[in-house]
Amino acid sequence: MKLKNRIGIVTGASAGIGEAIARDLVAQGGTVILNARRKEKLDLLLGELGTEDAAVVVGDCADEQVIDTMFDAAREQFGRGQVEANLVVVNAGRGLNGSVVTSDTSEWEAMIRTNLLGAARLIRTAAKRMLAEIERDAARGIHWTKQPRDIVVLGSTVGRHVSPFSSMYGSTKFAVNSLAEAARRELGPKGIRVSLIEPGFVVSEFQGVAGYQEEWLKATFERIGPVLEPRDIAEAVVAITSKPAHVHWGDLVMRGTRQDYP
Ligand SMILES: NC(=O)c1ccc[n+]([C@@H]2O[C@H](COP(=O)([O-])OP(=O)(O)OC[C@H]3O[C@@H](n4cnc5c(N)ncnc54)[C@H](OP(=O)(O)O)[C@@H]3O)[C@@H](O)[C@H]2O)c1
Repeated sequence: MKLKNRIGIVTGASAGIGEAIARDLVAQGGTVILNARRKEKLDLLLGELGTEDAAVVVGDCADEQVIDTMFDAAREQFGRGQVEANLVVVNAGRGLNGSVVTSDTSEWEAMIRTNLLGAARLIRTAAKRMLAEIERDAARGIHWTKQPRDIVVLGSTVGRHVSPFSSMYGSTKFAVNSLAEAARRELGPKGIRVSLIEPGFVVSEFQGVAGYQEEWLKATFERIGPVLEPRDIAEAVVAITSKPAHVHWGDLVMRGTRQDYP
C-alpha cells in the first residue's frame, strides 16, 4: 500500500497504459478519477475497481470543462470536499502513422488538440489547484513535504529522438516533453513534482489508432521484442509517486531491452 491517501486523476484510462496505471493506483491504496471518451470501457473498469476507490468522468481530455469536472469530482468524492487531487497522470494521447509528408492531414488538428492542448490544459489546472492548496496548507502551518504532489506526463522516445517516419506525432511529443520539463522547473521549487516518462514501444491500442501497417508492426516487434507492456509503465508511475515528497525521479526513458531506436 504505497499510495494510501493519494487522490489520482488518470486521463486515457479506458485502455492501455492509463488503464494499467489506474489499476495500480487503487491496488496501492489510492483513489482515482478515470477519464476517457468511451463510457462503456470506463464503466467496466469502475466495476472492477469499485466506487469507493474510483469514479468516472467521461469526455474529451482537452475540454476545459471536462478537466474542471475531473478535479471537482476528485475533491468531492475522495477529498471530503476539501482535499484536491494530488497525483495527476497526463496520459491520454494518440499516435499518427507517417511523416509530415505522408501522414493523413485530416488527423493533424485532432492529434495536436489531444496530445498537446489536452496535456497543457491539464498541467495548468493541476498546477493551479495544487499551488492554491500548498498556500492554504502553509497558512495552517502544514509544510509541503507532508503531502507529496505529482503531475506525471506521458511523453515518448519520439519526443526525444527525431523519427522522420512519425514526425507529426513526434512533434507533439517533443512539445509535451519540453512542457513537462519547463513545468518541473517552475513547479518543483514550490513543492510539486512534474515527472516525464518517455516510453518506446508499448503494446496497446495505440498502434491500431495510429494506423501503423500490420506487417511493418509485426516485423518490428519480431526484431526488437519483447516490447513493453502497459503494466511496466504503471509500475514506474507507482515507483515515482511513492517516494517521499522531497525526492524526485524526474525523467525516465523506458524501452524494451532490445529496442535500439527511437
Ligand atoms: N503505446 C506506445 O507505444 C506509446 C509509446 C510512447 C508513448 N505513448 C503515450 O502513452 C499514452 C497512452 O497511450 P497508450 O499506449 O495507452 O494508447 P491507447 O491504448 O490507445 O490508449 C489511449 C487512451 O487515451 C484515450 N484518449 C484518446 N483521445 C482522448 C481524448 N481526446 N480525450 C480523452 N481520452 C482520450 C483513449 O480512450 P478513448 O478512446 O475512450 O477516449 C485511451 O484510453 C499516450 O499519450 C501515448 O502517446 C504510448
